[in-house]
Amino acid sequence: MCGDKEAGEARYKKTCINCHGPAGKGAASYPKISGNEISYTTSKLKTYRDGIEIGPNSALMIMMARPLTDEEIVNLAAYLKDAKYK
Ligand code: HEC
Repeated sequence: MCGDKEAGEARYKKTCINCHGPAGKGAASYPKISGNEISYTTSKLKTYRDGIEIGPNSALMIMMARPLTDEEIVNLAAYLKDAKYK
C-alpha cells in the first residue's frame, strides 16, 4: 500500500488543514504532522479511530479520525510524508 497523494491532499484540505495548517506544518497548539513515515501516520490515525487517547488533546483527533476509511488513512499518510509548506 503506497497511497494516493492527490486524494490524500484533497481529503486533508477538507478538515485537517483547519487545525494542522497548510501541508501539515502545524499551527499554534496543533502538532506538525508532515514529514513522518507512512507507517507512523497510519498507526496514529488508526489508534485515534479506535478511540484510544495518546495525548492530552486526543479527544479532538478521535472525533476527526472516526469517519476515516483505511484507504483515506493511507492516502493522507502518503500525502503528509512529503508535504512541504511553500
Ligand atoms: C479540531 C482540530 C483538529 C483537526 C480538524 C485535525 N486534527 Fe489532528 N490533531 C489535533 C490535535 C489537538 C492533536 C494532538 C492530539 C493528542 O493530544 O493526542 C492531533 C494529532 C494528530 C496526529 C498525531 C501527531 C503525532 O505525531 O502524534 C496526526 C497524524 C493527525 N493529528 C492527523 C490529522 C488528520 C489526517 C486530520 C484530518 C483527517 C486531522 N489530524 C484533523 C487536532 C486536529
